[in-house]
Amino acid sequence: ATAFPAAALPPVIGHRGYSRRAPENTQAAVRAAHRAGIGWVELDVQLLGDGTPVIWHDRDVSRCSNGRSRLARLDQESAARLDAGAWFGEAFRGEPIATLTDMLALLASLGMGLNLELKVNRGRDPLALARQAVPKALAALPPERLLVSSFSQPALAVARDIAPPEALALGRLYKRLPAAWASHCAAVEAFSVHLDWRYATRSQLGAIRRAGYAVLCYTANDPAAFAPFWQWGVRSVISDEPAAFPPPR
Ligand code: G3P
Ligand code: MG
Repeated sequence: ATAFPAAALPPVIGHRGYSRRAPENTQAAVRAAHRAGIGWVELDVQLLGDGTPVIWHDRDVSRCSNGRSRLARLDQESAARLDAGAWFGEAFRGEPIATLTDMLALLASLGMGLNLELKVNRGRDPLALARQAVPKALAALPPERLLVSSFSQPALAVARDIAPPEALALGRLYKRLPAAWASHCAAVEAFSVHLDWRYATRSQLGAIRRAGYAVLCYTANDPAAFAPFWQWGVRSVISDEPAAFPPPR
């Protein structure tokens, strides 16, 4: 486990920006988080077919834009023609798919922190994604305002090869904690373990913390139901409705 920036990571992180108030993973969602006083956001990054990293969650663009294609079939020019805001609300019509470069510039200008999730959807190359995205994030944000996470062990391994633990905090994402979690985390000198709170248990949180890792939980939107996790030592919650969470006692 690494000693990274514990102090810099806040208790509440906006999931895909402030995704209840603005279209997820867009600059509008990041601005909404900032306006609500939320200092950190979680965003998903993937590559377009031409290798451009963009902020996007799904394998295709149909749910969150006016397009129909797989993300991997778009290049920067065709992606730029899509509207990633109108599906969410008329007020957001014209919101573009954000490139990682543009999003990092916005975060840097707002002084915000980023949990960048290297999102490896089915059939996509984890190595190319990490090689493209991680250096850009490192160049744009100071180490205490960047936490790179992934469900993909190969993506995290590439990220770790790019920068050592004191320069880059890594988080290992799981839906359910597998038996091999400790070896995964040790192999990439992880800072944190990120768990789906619906499956996470008190004993798992205890074991992870005893091994020296911070625990983050996603995606919790009910502060009352989430309350026990603060007692169990969770470090941060990743929420679609981050302003609903009172600061932990
Ligand atoms: O990084 C936490 C969370 O975003 C992981 O799941 O599917 O929402 O990207 P997903
Ligand atoms: Mg995510």
